[in-house]
Order: sequence, then structure tokens, then C-alpha cells
Amino acid sequence: MGENPLSAGGGRRPRAGTRRLLVAGALGVLGTVTALAASVPAGAAAGTLGAAAAQSGRYYGAAIAAGHMNDSTYVATWDREYNAVTPENEMKWDATEPSRGSFRFTSADQIVSHAQSKGMKIRGHTLVWHGQLPSWVGGLSTNDLRSAMVNHINNVMGHYKGKIYAWDVVNEAFADGGSVGSLRSSIFTQKLGNGFIEEAFRAARAADPNAKLCYNDYNIDDANANKTRGVYNMVKDFKARGVPIDCVGLQSHLSQGSVPSNYQQNIAQFAALGVDVQITELDIGGSGSAQADAYRRVTQACTAVPRCTGMTVWGITDKYSWRSGDNPLLFDGNFNKKQAYTAVLDALNAATPNTSPSPTISPTPSPTPSPNTSPNTSPSPRTSPSSTPSPVTGACSATLTTVNSWPGGFQSEVTVRAGGSAVDGWTVKWTWPGGQTISSLWNGTQSVSGSSVTVGNAAYNGSIAAGSSTTFGFTANGSAATPTLTCTSP
Ligand code: G3I
Repeated sequence: MGENPLSAGGGRRPRAGTRRLLVAGALGVLGTVTALAASVPAGAAAGTLGAAAAQSGRYYGAAIAAGHMNDSTYVATWDREYNAVTPENEMKWDATEPSRGSFRFTSADQIVSHAQSKGMKIRGHTLVWHGQLPSWVGGLSTNDLRSAMVNHINNVMGHYKGKIYAWDVVNEAFADGGSVGSLRSSIFTQKLGNGFIEEAFRAARAADPNAKLCYNDYNIDDANANKTRGVYNMVKDFKARGVPIDCVGLQSHLSQGSVPSNYQQNIAQFAALGVDVQITELDIGGSGSAQADAYRRVTQACTAVPRCTGMTVWGITDKYSWRSGDNPLLFDGNFNKKQAYTAVLDALNAATPNTSPSPTISPTPSPTPSPNTSPNTSPSPRTSPSSTPSPVTGACSATLTTVNSWPGGFQSEVTVRAGGSAVDGWTVKWTWPGGQTISSLWNGTQSVSGSSVTVGNAAYNGSIAAGSSTTFGFTANGSAATPTLTCTSP
């Protein structure tokens, strides 16, 4: 990737006269921008972050902690400067479902009601994450975990249905420092396999069809990093197969020397897949002009890409930041504006109006509803799960389990396991005994020739560590069958 064209000099801000013309032109043609920018007089630079971002049809948000809402300066700064919010901890699983089936929304509701009263956009953070999980989740069996995950998504998204602009459906699932596509080991991968991400997104779409559904992660800021490539491949695969996903969240916990030179290209490459990009947890450790420059570059990178729809800083004041020693935010501990604040405000004011606002979401229809991902259904197999081991024909083996069946159809899951060595790419083959046909397959790519089926890995789940496994699944027409599977790896 080449250099970020905006990274040098930061001198992209047009002259005031030019800016006036650009804003005025957009006001004439873009209804959404007109509405968002209405609070800024024509020709004037906006004086707050939210109003400045709105001129180009974007939002500028902050993470808010309900526990600090008794600090009047904190709330006044939030209200004045930001037009969006992400609850910092209040919507996480440990906060919303501390014991199984018992939901608690008091703290999150406090933030949501306040934000609604100010007309702010609300980002929901987060539904499925290995962090801040209540301990009861760790003890669940595979089937229990699957139904608990879907139930959690249904209840939390259901409680806020219609109020949330975008949900971080799955957070931080990819591994640091691994090969492209490797997922972090968690209770979700261990019990549900890599397909848990797809299952979560399908359940989320059903729970609130009007919320944007995001995958959110850190260390995916460099366009070429293995972790970034893994997320990119997953999003590409989801889009190709119609798995519902609308946005990628770049958390962007950075320091002043660590904004990648290809940060803008990175945003652009995700946007080119047909998803929005949001900077979701921005904070940049540092001080003075170097910190301000880093903030400017990040802001310009977002505003240069039409589908980068908004930015959220992970807190308001350095006083309450989770990285307080790094002083990474836009207001110091006394709520004074820092140089970084001015850099962001100027970059937002310099942005050209967004001529490609993100399209209205049109929910992608799920394939044949899967009992494991449909809301409000507990799996009730009509047949006992059955499985067939396959002979190890190389570095991997594959086992098929029938997880559900109904008259004329069934659903199966195939576990692909690496042997004594890691595998990089796998292919599973079988022959149907009785004319069965696959209606929908996930976490793999299929080719069919008569009764012979060949399934290869998806772009993101080909690498399996020695002794580890991944899964793919499908729904099929016909009578449930357990053919003999072979697995090969190049
Ligand atoms: O509320 C309790 C309090 O009752 C208790 O006395 C105190 C003692 O430690 O802990 C308080 O809870 C803390 C909570 O923040 C609220 O302040 C937790 O210990 C602490 O672990 C928790 O940290 C949060 C962290 O996520 C946990 O993973 C941070 O506030 C929050 O900013 C941070 O946010 C994450 C994003 O969700 C995901 N991306 C990374 C980001 C930064 O780590």
C-alpha cells in the first residue's frame, strides 16, 4: 500500500470561501445533509465536533459511562460537543444479563434516554465478546451456549429495538499476531466453532432488522496486517454469501506514532466491500502537536471516504479514560480543549460534504431458517443428533452431526479437525446416499456434481492449529443422512 496522501502536512483544509461553496452546494442537493447541518449557519465553520461532523453527514460521538453522569461538566461537554454516544460498559453481557435469563438495563437506559432526549445517534456495544462475560456463560454446554447467545442477542437488541443506529454484534474475535484468519480462542470458538460469528450476525438481523450490524476490533488499522486481512476476508465472504453485515468498526486505540500510513486506504478497502466503516473507540496516546497531528490524520482519513460514516472517541476527558496515563482524549482532566480537539474540529470543518451517504439497510434474507439462529426458538430436534467419524485421510478429519431435522429437510454441522500438524486450507468430500440437496451452506464454499459434494474452507477459516477444529454447517432437503466424509489438506 502506498502512503496516505493526506498524511503529509495536514494542509488539506480548503480556504473558507471554498468551504462555504462546498457546504452551500451540498445543502442544495442532499436532504440528509441539509437536516444534519441545519444548526450551522451557511458559510460558518461549526464550533463543536458534532455540528462540524454533521456538515458532511457524519456523526462524532463519545463513549459515556453512566457512573460519571453525576458530573455536570462531563454531561455538559457531552451535550455540547457530541451528537452520538456509545455506552462504555453498560450494554456488555455482564452488565445486561448478570445471571442467565435475568436482564438488567438500568444503567444503559440512563445513557440511552439522555441521548435520545438530545437527538443523538446511539451505538450499541457489544453483544458477543469474550470480555466482560458473566461467569455463568463459561459453564455452558455447546447447545446451551448457542441458545444463550441467541437469547442474549434477542433480549438486548429487542429491548433497544428501533433506538440503536449500529450494534457491535461481535467484538474482538480475531487473534493478535496469528496467521491470516485465525480467531482468538474463546468459549465461543471452543464450543461453537468459528461459525459463531455468522450465527450471531444472523440472529442479530432477525432481532432488529433496522440496526446496522458491525464487526468491531482493535489492531485492524493497518491495511496489510494479518489481523486486518482476516477480518477483510470474512467481510468479503459474508457479503458474497448474503450473511448480514453492514459495517466494520475500527476501534483505533492508537498512539501518536502509530497511525498506520495506509490508514485511509484501509478504511477505503473495507468500504469497497460494500459496508460502512466507523471509527468506534478512538483514543491516541500522546500530547501537544504530535497528538494533534495524529488525530488530524485519522479524522481526514475518515472524511475522505464516503462510507466512513462517523467517529467515536473512547471517552470525553483524560480524567476518566481507561488509559488515563496516556492522556489520549480531546479534553484534558479539567475539561479544557486540547490541541488535538482543535485539529479534529478543523479537519471536520474542512471535510467536503458526503455525497454518498450510506444506503438504507435492506436486510439480507437468511437462508432456510436455522433453528440454532432463529430468535425465540429453543432447538428441539425431532431426531437425535447423530454423527459419523471420518477416516483421517491426511492432515485433517471431518465429522458430520445432524443437529436438527424436520419432514423433508435437515440441518447438519461438520467439524473439521487438524491432526498433529496445523493445516492451511482443507477440503471435505462426501456422496449423498439418497438424493439429498444442500439448500444453504455457511462457513465454507461448496461445489456439487450430481450426488458428490465438495466443500472447501471459507476465506477466513482455512487455517487450523494442530489438534484444533473449525466448523461449517448447512441445511439440506431430503432425509437426514450421515455419509462418510473425507478430509484433505494441501
Ligand atoms: O464498576 C466496577 C466497580 O464497581 C469496581 O469497584 C471496580 C474495581 O475494579 O471495577 C469497576 O468495573 C470496571 C469497569 O471498567 C467500569 O469502570 C472494571 O473493573 C474494568 O475492567 C472496566 O474496564 C473497561 C474495559 O473495557 C473492560 O474490558 C473499560 O472501562 C472500558 O473502557 C473498556 O472498553 C473496551 C471496549 O469495550 C472494547 N475494546 C477495548 C476497550 C478498552 O479496553
